[in-house]
Amino acid sequence: MRKPILISGIQPTGKLHLGNYLGALKNFVDLQNSGKYQCYFFIADMHALTENPNPKDLQKNTIDLMASFLAARLNPKKSTLFIQSQISAHLQLYEILGPLTPVSELLRMTAFKEKVIQTLKLKEGQIFTREDFERAVDESNFGLAAYPVLMTADIILYDAKFVPVGRDQLQHLELARTLVRKFNNKYGKTFTEPKPLLTKVPRLMSLDDSTKKMAKSRPAGCLFMDDSPAIIRQKLTRATTDSGKEIKYDVKNKPGVSNLLLIYSELSGKSVSTIEKMYVGKGYAEFKKDLAEVIIRALRPFQERKKKLKPAEIKKVLAVGNKKANTVASKKINEVKRKIGLLI
Ligand code: AMP
Ligand code: TRP
Repeated sequence: MRKPILISGIQPTGKLHLGNYLGALKNFVDLQNSGKYQCYFFIADMHALTENPNPKDLQKNTIDLMASFLAARLNPKKSTLFIQSQISAHLQLYEILGPLTPVSELLRMTAFKEKVIQTLKLKEGQIFTREDFERAVDESNFGLAAYPVLMTADIILYDAKFVPVGRDQLQHLELARTLVRKFNNKYGKTFTEPKPLLTKVPRLMSLDDSTKKMAKSRPAGCLFMDDSPAIIRQKLTRATTDSGKEIKYDVKNKPGVSNLLLIYSELSGKSVSTIEKMYVGKGYAEFKKDLAEVIIRALRPFQERKKKLKPAEIKKVLAVGNKKANTVASKKINEVKRKIGLLI
């Protein structure tokens, strides 16, 4: 029996943070190494266009993200690693799925609404009106609204059954499932309904505000994968904890400490309850100091491997991956075109 197909992508929109790693990339590597799936991992560079990046930055971030993929131990011998924009079938399928997608569903997406709210450039605690929001929706770009349709194309083009992502992507996957059902009902069974795979850390919170998720758009709360030991120590010292003294996992009453416990557990391999026991009678300061060292130790091999990778080596890996992805995607897009009545 052929192994089920698994796919995921990350946008090259800036430096990778620990949320991306614990919510997605670390899981990509574990799933790849499980040997249970045919894996595809790609750089969603066309999705990054929705943020209107500077062209030089986009190129630099794309190569940097692929270096992070390789440094995290995604292995081109085991997984197909590629760049979304190099496979023209993604855009073709996106165009084909457009007429099946109600605009109202796109405007309801939480990620879209959050991006729109960001354009309001609110100060901390500032309130906005419904009219402010509606004006921002009218002014937002089409790419941002249509983002989940392209994401659907990315996934279903490869007949992926599983998609490892963080919790913020679940709504997009739900849309992908709806579009698959619609297409299959209209034109006959063509695509597979994808299912999400979440990690134990599907939503890592910011270090400076445990009510917000760690996100590239709020760099102050991020721990970046490339941060130096000195920066990591400094960020941990400043990380928000909660009232009280106990090191205890209690998301409701101690969201800050609980978030740090999850990081500690995931990077040390110790269970949360073991860590709680280790810190009975000890304070936040000692816990955070030790956690900084756990993070530094866990990131060191990644950072060392990344420094050694050469752009030429990265480009070579990509050329092979792009070719493999293109073969699979071209076959599928031709099948789709034939089914919907386009000449091929
Ligand atoms: P992005 O950088 O938005 O392309 O996200 C790449 C992957 O990281 C996606 O699967 C996200 O769901 C995941 N991710 C982003 N932020 C977090 C977070 N704070 N916690 C867990 N996963 C996250
Ligand atoms: N939307 C995802 C994010 O912001 C990135 C992405 C694009 C993706 N296409 C995908 C993830 C397909 C999984 C599968 O993180």
